[in-house]
Amino acid sequence: MKNGLEDVIAAETRLSDVDGDAGRLIIRGISLEQLVEGASYEDVAALLLDGLLERPVSAGELQALLGRVRAEVFVHVQAMDGSLKNLPPVDAMRALIAHLPDGDDFETALRLLAAPAVFLPAILRLREGKAPIAPNSSLSQSADILAMLTASLPTAEQISALDAYLVTISDHGLNASTFAARVIASTKAGLTSSVLAAISALKGPLHGGAPGPVLDMLDAIGTQENARKWLGQALDRGERLMGFGHRIYRVRDPRADALKGALVPLVATGQVDADRIRLAEAVEQAALAILRERKTDRTLDVNVEFYTALLLDALKFPREAFTGVFAIGRTTGWIAHAREQALEGRLIRPRSAYIGPVPQAA
Ligand code: COA
Repeated sequence: MKNGLEDVIAAETRLSDVDGDAGRLIIRGISLEQLVEGASYEDVAALLLDGLLERPVSAGELQALLGRVRAEVFVHVQAMDGSLKNLPPVDAMRALIAHLPDGDDFETALRLLAAPAVFLPAILRLREGKAPIAPNSSLSQSADILAMLTASLPTAEQISALDAYLVTISDHGLNASTFAARVIASTKAGLTSSVLAAISALKGPLHGGAPGPVLDMLDAIGTQENARKWLGQALDRGERLMGFGHRIYRVRDPRADALKGALVPLVATGQVDADRIRLAEAVEQAALAILRERKTDRTLDVNVEFYTALLLDALKFPREAFTGVFAIGRTTGWIAHAREQALEGRLIRPRSAYIGPVPQAA
C-alpha cells in the first residue's frame, strides 16, 4: 500500500506526461514551452480533445461553437439563486454547473467548456453588486472571460496572458482532480458528474486552492527586506510556504516559468505593478534559499501556483476567484481524461487494506 498512491500508475493516457525529475511537461506530444508560444485556449482544447469527442473539431470551429454556447448558458446566470453569490466563487460556480444536463455527447462537452467561463465572471460581478455582463460570441474564450469580468474589451497583451495561463494549466497527468474525473467517468456517470467531482477535488489548498494564499503571503511580507524573516517565522510555526513543493516535481515546475514568461509583455507595457513583481521575485529567491537550508532531505522548488497568483492578479481577477479560473482551464483536461477513461478504461475499483478490529471468535 502506498500512502497517497505515490508513484502508483493507475491509468494509461495519451494526453499529458509529467517528468518530475527533468521538470518537463508534454501535452499530446508537444512540450509546454513550445505549446505556450502563441497557442490559444481553443488550440489546446482542440488538441486535447482530438479523437475523443463524437466528431472532430478544429480550434477555429471550436471558437465559434463556444461563442454560441457561452450565450446559451448565460440563461443559468439570469435564473441563478441570488444567495449563491455568498458562497466562495468556486463553490458558486460548481453549484451552477450542477444545473447542467449530464451526458457524454459533443454538446455536453461544449457546454462544460463554455459554462465555467461564463459563470465565474458573472458570480464575481454579482459579489460586487454589479450586473453580470452577457457573453460576446464573436470573441475568443479568453477575450470574452476578461470582457465579462471587467466590462471592457481587454488588451492584446491581457488576452495573450490569459491564453498562456489556460494553456499552461490545461492538463497535468493524473493529478488529484483528474483522477477524480476519471473515477467518475469509469462508472459511466457522464461528463458533468466528472467535472463536478474534479472541481471538488481541485478546490483544496493542497491542489488548486493555493494561489490566493500566495498573494496573502506577499501582502504579509510587504517588503523585500522582510522576506527572509517572515518566511523563517512561518516555517518555525510549522507552516508550508504556499507556491512551493510538489508531489511529482523534484525540480522547478516548468509551468512556473511559462507563466513568468507570460507576465513579461504585461510588465513591458506597464499593465502590471512592477514593484509587485520585484517583491515576488525577492520572496521566491528567499524562499528557495531557506527551504534549501531547512529541508535538506528533499528539493522544494517553486510550483505553478506562485506565478499563477501574480498573473491572475495582473489580469484583475480577485484572489478568491483564482481556483475558479484554474477550473476554467483544467476543465479541458478533465473532459479529455473522462472521455479517454470512458472509451478505453475499466471501472476504477481499488481495494483497501482493512486495519480495524475483527470479530472475536465465539
Ligand atoms: N513549505 C514548507 N515545507 C514543505 C512544503 C512547503 N511548501 N512542501 C513540502 N514541504 C515539506 C513538508 O513539510 C514535509 O516535510 P516534513 O516531513 O519535514 O514536514 C516534506 O516537505 C514532504 O512533504 P509532503 O507533504 O510529503 O509532500 P507532498 O508531495 O505530499 O505535498 C504539496 C506536495 C504540493 C502538497 C506540498 O508541497 C505543499 O503543501 N505545498 C504548498 C501548497 C501548494 O503550493 N500547493 C500547490 C501545489 S501545485
